[in-house]
Amino acid sequence: MLIPNNGGIELKSILKWGVIGSGGIARRRTIPEGIMQSEYAKLVSVYDQNQELNETVASEFNAIPSRAIDELLRSDIDVVYIASPANLHLEHAITCAKAKKHVFCEKPLGLSITEAEKIVHVCKKENVMLGCGFMMRFLAQHEIAYSLIKDGKLGKLVYGRAQLSCWYPPIEGAWRQDPKLGGGGSLMDMGSHCIDLLEMFFGKPVSVSCFINTNVHDYKSEDSAVVILGFENGAMATVDTYFCIPDNSSKNILELYGSKGSILAKGTIGQESSGEMIAYLEEDKNGYDAKQTRSAVKGMNINPKPVNTYLAEVNEFSRAILENREPKNDAQIGLQSQEVLAACYKSAKLGKVVEIK
Ligand SMILES: NC(=O)c1ccc[n+]([C@@H]2O[C@H](COP(=O)([O-])OP(=O)(O)OC[C@H]3O[C@@H](n4cnc5c(N)ncnc54)[C@H](O)[C@@H]3O)[C@@H](O)[C@H]2O)c1
Repeated sequence: MLIPNNGGIELKSILKWGVIGSGGIARRRTIPEGIMQSEYAKLVSVYDQNQELNETVASEFNAIPSRAIDELLRSDIDVVYIASPANLHLEHAITCAKAKKHVFCEKPLGLSITEAEKIVHVCKKENVMLGCGFMMRFLAQHEIAYSLIKDGKLGKLVYGRAQLSCWYPPIEGAWRQDPKLGGGGSLMDMGSHCIDLLEMFFGKPVSVSCFINTNVHDYKSEDSAVVILGFENGAMATVDTYFCIPDNSSKNILELYGSKGSILAKGTIGQESSGEMIAYLEEDKNGYDAKQTRSAVKGMNINPKPVNTYLAEVNEFSRAILENREPKNDAQIGLQSQEVLAACYKSAKLGKVVEIK
């Protein structure tokens, strides 16, 4: 498929992708469900520091196994998907940008605001596109919830809750379990998705209060975090995110409330393309009901055709490059996420509310 630009000139129709850190989420999700399925992307070469694993991934997906990043960057690629551990994103993103490759970086963009800013700066200087892997924004139900909110169906936004937890026991060498390597624990890793979604729905957060703890597991990163966010528009939200609650016991709840209704979801936050979502919308403002009867409004099931979020993020980033426009999953969401996360950790450390500029 060829995509014309504004001048009607035919652009390159498919972008050639390389991958750094091929053995983790890249192999589990982004390569098979995203890059391999995209009509705008072709997987060319992969690199992982684990050479044996990299050979296996390369043969699984018919790609060239590179033995070093230099070699990967010399192969015929336009974009690099960076799916290495968080502490390596800065080095890997900058190396790729300097080699004039577009960079699609997994979240978090870096370990800190400074690292994220450096990545943004170098990509701008090298004139390459930078995207960040907050793929949950693309879930079909989340897109519909966003449209309902944008159309004012919830009225004035009041309160949101986003939850993402899993069971993550101590594992020898696991980078997420050491804040020096992961930037944090459950909050940085999974809470970042929750905060990102709340920003999509509610806009800019301006203040944050946060508690973190390592309650159950014996590692350095937090296994527990609760965040309270205050938004520019007056809405408030909470995020609860744990590495110490069994998978099946946490339903990854999303709740969005406004003065005219709510959108309540179970299981839409996560890696799957599914989940349940119901909207309760009350067009007509009723008077005060002292009896608080709750039967009047029937929920509306939000059940669109599922969208694979890994495919959607790859498509959007590839198309943005081909069409020479900013992608929805741009650097800004990665940078903003880093700012809010830094404010959360600061609040937890100081035991105070922290303002966000
Ligand atoms: N959006 C999502 O759904 C999602 C899910 C999981 C992880 N992630 C993100 O993806 C990134 C990777 O997480 P993961 O779960 O795949 O981790 P992982 O540890 O499972 O996999 C990381 C891979 O990187 C490789 N690696 C380590 N050091 C390397 C180096 N110096 N050079 C090249 N490769 C190296 C490892 O060998 C491993 O194969 C993180 O940023 C994480 O936050 C996103």
